[in-house]
Amino acid sequence: MRWIRAAGRGLLVAVVVLAGYVSSGVAGPQHGGAARDGGRGPMTLATAGVLTGYLGPLLEGWNRAHPAERVTLVELPDSADETRAQMTSELRSGGGRFDILNIDVAWTSEFAAAGWISPLDSGRFALDSFLPPVVDTATYENRLYAVPYVTDAGMLYYRKDILDREGERPPRSWAELERQARTIAPEYGIDGYAGQFLPYEGLTVNATEAVYSAGGTVLGDDGRVTVDSAAARTGIGFLARGVRDGWIPREALTYKEEESRQAFQDGRLLFLRNWPYAYAGASGASGADSKVAGKFGVVPLPGPRGAGKSVLGGSNLAISANARHPQSAAELIAYLTSEPVQRRVLTEGALPPVRAGLYDDPELVADHPYLPALRTSVLAAEPRPKSPRYDQMSLAVQAVVHDAMAQHQEPGAAVRRLAAELAELARRG
Ligand code: GLC
Repeated sequence: MRWIRAAGRGLLVAVVVLAGYVSSGVAGPQHGGAARDGGRGPMTLATAGVLTGYLGPLLEGWNRAHPAERVTLVELPDSADETRAQMTSELRSGGGRFDILNIDVAWTSEFAAAGWISPLDSGRFALDSFLPPVVDTATYENRLYAVPYVTDAGMLYYRKDILDREGERPPRSWAELERQARTIAPEYGIDGYAGQFLPYEGLTVNATEAVYSAGGTVLGDDGRVTVDSAAARTGIGFLARGVRDGWIPREALTYKEEESRQAFQDGRLLFLRNWPYAYAGASGASGADSKVAGKFGVVPLPGPRGAGKSVLGGSNLAISANARHPQSAAELIAYLTSEPVQRRVLTEGALPPVRAGLYDDPELVADHPYLPALRTSVLAAEPRPKSPRYDQMSLAVQAVVHDAMAQHQEPGAAVRRLAAELAELARRG
């Protein structure tokens, strides 16, 4: 009897394991060693190397529980473009150095269209617990190619201590921001406003936000180029004028996320456009050295006549088409996007989670007071165009907007040139 029960249990275990195997996530054909070892075994996770300190302990937890399916973290450079370049050169050459890729939401279409990442079985992941716009960034031509991991939306950080002393409220329009940056910042010996203005993906984001905030678009839903508009001239004009009139420091033309965060954290800026991750450092969390701890606030991005628009950022976890162990990879992704781990992504990584329920968890909101505002910003944020040629489009935006900001071309001419370059890319298909 005992034997029969034990055998029954064995059968049950076998069925569960088999079911787990069959539905474990990768929808496409099996690659690499999948046929031989059931797609299970050690793997690597490649990610941009910025603020990944929390990931080590998190992956250690997985490794302890899965000694035969250990994951090794591969840290790439912190800038979006350099990380993309390293990933794409490896994927293009058919190399198997990266099994799981933590890709920017902007790259899903390009990676999927190129066949570098495998389609996933959407039933395997808790997609309806995620914020809806983030799920869309992980799909291409109606198929799921990645699982949302971290979301992002641009926000305006401001020096509350200074504005309070001046009897001013945080800016609710570009006119207010411009006036305060121009007149108040110099009185305190600091710079007015900065974002991420080095030519790289960050500048594309800042420029796109300026265009969207002014009511413009870059591409229409049908892929037509729509950027040649008065709204785009207003948006790019705002950024170019800031440098011309000195309330955006020239130095900001070399800033990525980290340089701009540091400038604000060192007390050198009145206003900063950045992602939510900058909040932790500026508030001196985990012993960070901050001159502005307790002295700053965060509000939604302003636009020319009122509320502005932010671009939807974040990253998705994808499985390389050359992954050695796609079944283990899919399970690790399910783990990293599970509720308890997403909670740690916020509490230990200071990164915005993709699980909707965490945004009104009273305990989390008490420790991260910006969460409700962040959810509103993420839900209202505009995605970047879904295009297999997104990288080329982004390079065009960066080059042109940088020229306008560096005063090499006036905004009207820059916008016309951008429209022509994007149209040429669209024509080449
Ligand atoms: C952040 C965003 C990402 C964006 C990048 C630009 O990492 O999450 O979506 O493309 O910044 O630098």
